[in-house]
Amino acid sequence: MTKHTNIAADPKRAAAQHAVTLIEPGMVVGLGVGSTAIHAVRQIAALLRNGVLRDIICVPCSKSTHAVAEELGIPLTTLEDHPCVDLTIDGADEVDAAMNLIKGGGGALLREKIVAQASAREVIVCDESKLSTYLGERWALPVEVVPFGHGATRKYLQSLECEAKQRTTNGGEPFFTDQGNFIYDCNFGRIENPAELAALLDPRAGIVEHGLFIGLATDLIVAGADGIRHARRKS
Ligand code: A5P
Repeated sequence: MTKHTNIAADPKRAAAQHAVTLIEPGMVVGLGVGSTAIHAVRQIAALLRNGVLRDIICVPCSKSTHAVAEELGIPLTTLEDHPCVDLTIDGADEVDAAMNLIKGGGGALLREKIVAQASAREVIVCDESKLSTYLGERWALPVEVVPFGHGATRKYLQSLECEAKQRTTNGGEPFFTDQGNFIYDCNFGRIENPAELAALLDPRAGIVEHGLFIGLATDLIVAGADGIRHARRKS
């Protein structure tokens, strides 16, 4: 932990800084999306600059993270050149007690899931506001949808008994993901069985991917009133 970090004042930053201590020389590192993950990106850049960290190469999970990392001079690669990621540090929108996640608040769930599935270790960093007993209690589930025929896909989503709202930009235009798709934010309320819901979403052709990350997080680092808690998934 960097000694100047005040956990109470900036828990997201504190969680990210703790996660960065897990990086070792020689690693391929996934760089996540969102304000917490960007703290990790900035910390990685600082440690590379002062020589505390060396010999790593990173895979960004979004165009926006790529731009920040490139600007900071972090060595970057792709999953084509480095298909196996040692450790990814990413944020989450909601986390349940089994370390299942809702992701995609930043619209990057597809790339985030591709990188997570390629990662030996998926380290999730967040503050306590992300913790829920059940997924869906605090956050609508983002679902990435192909623009072609999205009206039919929306109807399918609604048939699963959610309120499906197409994400828009602040200007009211449709939001496009890095892959050129739409996002529907689907409010299911409390999701009692995430695996069952995922099984209903996975086979639908118009659905590219959804923000349920089940069994993908290996580590959860939460910063809160009691300091930093680091939980690891039992294998
Ligand atoms: C991005 O698509 C999400 O999965 C993010 O990881 C999430 O929105 C976390 O954001 P904050 O760290 O800003 O809360």
